[in-house]
Amino acid sequence: MSTIRNLAALAVLGLAQAETIGFGPHFSLGPTSSWIREANTTLVLPEVPSPQQDRLALWPGMGTSGGDLIQALAVSFSDPSANCGATAGQWCTWASTLQGEQLGGKQVPANAGDEVNMHYKYNDETSKFDQTVSINGEVVSTLSTKSGQAQGWGTAVECQAEACDGTAAAHEYLDTTIILNAADSSFKDTLAIEEATSSGLKTSDNGKTWTVDSIKIQSHTYNL
Ligand SMILES: *[C@@H]1O[C@H](CO)[C@@H](O)[C@H](O)[C@H]1NC(C)=O
Repeated sequence: MSTIRNLAALAVLGLAQAETIGFGPHFSLGPTSSWIREANTTLVLPEVPSPQQDRLALWPGMGTSGGDLIQALAVSFSDPSANCGATAGQWCTWASTLQGEQLGGKQVPANAGDEVNMHYKYNDETSKFDQTVSINGEVVSTLSTKSGQAQGWGTAVECQAEACDGTAAAHEYLDTTIILNAADSSFKDTLAIEEATSSGLKTSDNGKTWTVDSIKIQSHTYNL
């Protein structure tokens, strides 16, 4: 998944490149010989890092043929209230696409234990990807971006600046479904997994729809 990694390294939150950026564990798929029409997953938020420093981001992302990174975010900031009106100990979460600049929907607070559903779907009528972020079943943030076709899907644990001197807690993605435009039976062979385990990638239609019941991301301490 060099696509996702390279793109992500550019600037998740529109930051100067001089700042430290680091990546931890991941579960990454792609590129597919087809393209990804739809991806749905639910991130169960862990505790924020202690102390909360700028910035730790958890995201499932899709690198696209347009050079974009579709990446709904959950971010821990040193000052959560200045970013999304959150209180200490909370995350900020929102729909987002890195498209040169970081585009975003409404940023909202979220708690450890919340189930944050991140759903991406290609809209044939607009040729855009529609993102919907829901917390515990309630839609909180949306964004649609013209981004081309999605080529891969992967989870990331990304630190920037002071958070690269901290620890990201273990967390889990539930009920992940990735729907390709056309069957690609070798999609499973593109899996790159590090400091993470999964219940296994399954398909019931010969490689068009892929599901993973559980992706468990391990705790990671940065030393950057
Ligand atoms: C996405 O996943 C959530 C949680 O499993 C589920 O409630 C929702 O119906 C799914 N959305 C679609 C469009 O499949």
